[in-house]
Order: sequence, then C-alpha cells, then structure tokens
Amino acid sequence: MSRILSFGSLNIDYVYSVDHFVQKGETLSSDGMHVSSGGKGLNQSCALGKAGCQVYHAGIIGKDGTFLLDVLKQARVDTSLIRISDEIQTGNTIIQNDKEGDNCILLYGGANQAVDPEFADSVLSHFSRGDVIILQNEISSLEYIITKAASMGMTTVFNPSPYNEKITPAVLDAADWLILNETEAMGITGSDSEKEEVLAERLRTKFPDKKIVLTLGERGSCFIRSDFSCHQDIFKVHAVDTTAAGDTFTGYFVAGVLHGEEIPEALRIAARASAIAVTRAGAAASIPWADEVKNALYDSL
Ligand code: RIB
Repeated sequence: MSRILSFGSLNIDYVYSVDHFVQKGETLSSDGMHVSSGGKGLNQSCALGKAGCQVYHAGIIGKDGTFLLDVLKQARVDTSLIRISDEIQTGNTIIQNDKEGDNCILLYGGANQAVDPEFADSVLSHFSRGDVIILQNEISSLEYIITKAASMGMTTVFNPSPYNEKITPAVLDAADWLILNETEAMGITGSDSEKEEVLAERLRTKFPDKKIVLTLGERGSCFIRSDFSCHQDIFKVHAVDTTAAGDTFTGYFVAGVLHGEEIPEALRIAARASAIAVTRAGAAASIPWADEVKNALYDSL
C-alpha cells in the first residue's frame, strides 16, 4: 500500500462546554473545560493511522505541544518529520461545544504558520512518485507544498478546510482528490445554494478531471466524478461532540480507497467511523480504531 504524507496542523484544543455559543457583548460561564489534542492535520493523521495506513505526519509545534507527538504515536503515526521550534508556540484553538453537540472554533495558527518552503523541501525529499500526500488549509506554504508534491508525481488529496483566500486556483489545480463540505463547496464554486444536486453539478463542471467527495452533515455524503457518482446516508447516533467528525471521515475514506475498497464501501466506512467519533468528546481522542468501525459497519442506519 502507498505511504501517506499527512502535512498539516497540530493544535492544542481548549474545549468549553456551553449552553449556547457566546454572543457579541456577552460573558458566558461554561459548564466544563478540557484541553485536548487537535488540528485538522493531526486528527486526519490519527484517523489514517487507526485505520491501518502507513502515515507520516509533517508539521511544526512549539515546546508546549510535545504531548501531541505521543497522541500521534499512540495512533501508529510516524512523527519523525515533525519539527519542534524553540521560539514559537504550538497552534491552538478555543472550541465552544454546545448542548446539541455542535461546535464553533477560534483558531490561532502559531507554529503551523511557520511552515516554509525550506522545511517543505526537507520533508518532501523523503517521498516520491506513487506516494500520497494529504493536506488541509491550516498551515502556511500550502500552495508551494501541493504544487511541488503534484510535480513529483505524488497523489494529492486536498481538504480545503477552513475555506479562505489561501485556497488559490493553483492549489485547487494541483489536487487529484477534493474532500470538502457544503460550506467549502459553496465558497469554491460560488454557489448560493447548498443543495446536494446543485453543488454536485457545480463541482463536476468546474473540476471535470478530479475525484470529489462532498460531505453534507446530517444529509450524508456523496462521491462526484464526471462518469460516476453515489450517495451515502449518515448513520444516525446521539451526537455529543462533532469536533473532528469531518477529519475522521476524511482519514477513513482515504484509508478505504487505499485499502482497495470500491468508492461506495469507502464512503460507508467513513460515515460509520465519523458516526462513532461524534458520540465521544474531543477531537483526536474521539476517533475509533478500525476494528470498532468494522464491527459496527453493518449496524442499521
Ligand atoms: O476539525 C477539527 C479541528 O479543527 C480541531 O481539532 C481544531 O484544532 C481545528 O483545527
């Protein structure tokens, strides 16, 4: 199976349980607070590692974030390409988690924004044609990394999250696979509709040569390519915390494809894994191992 380079963010998540998201001018007491490991990059690496892939995480942390290395190692992720900076603080977030299990996230990039072309070159020198790279939008030098990886013949998987102006046409051009949610799809296609059919058609027209997975929250997910598409419903569960649900989905979907599953089955595995993740608190900590996902796979929707 291909080696996977997961080049992405590593965050310390400060998670607050709240009745509702804090409003402008409001001071709100929280019912609980915990500190956990996160970052879209770290979460996706953990999902890939727990799903049984050979995954190398690359990124930068400060000295305050060295516990994140243990979290990755426990998920069987290789951490030898993570740089520890003496000067910069690890990226962090403030996450509000409300009664319905929904969240909102305030992100401070920290060391994630210190990734530069020199570091990227040193990481990419360990990889070659046929290897896979997975990226999100929480580190600096994104365009440099993805265009260089594509020119090296690596298979590029891009999760454009969070969606902002750093997602340039060159970044999108360099992606073989796009895994995105409805907000990101609306931003990228300019659609003002979040309907599955509308977004799928816009994405298919804009990116006729790409393989695309669109996630739609409660409405499930779908695969879109010019000659084939399919839909997967969610597995209905009681959600406690949706943080990292999308990352779990992404990691397990990519793992499924690399393990040789057909697309509908890879979508089903990813939906099952993310349904398990939302029943637990935390980001990386909520991601299930492959055995648990397999055992739950044919439970009813
Ligand atoms: O996708 C969830 C992640 O987004 C959190 O772990 C947080 O760190 C932010 O990066």
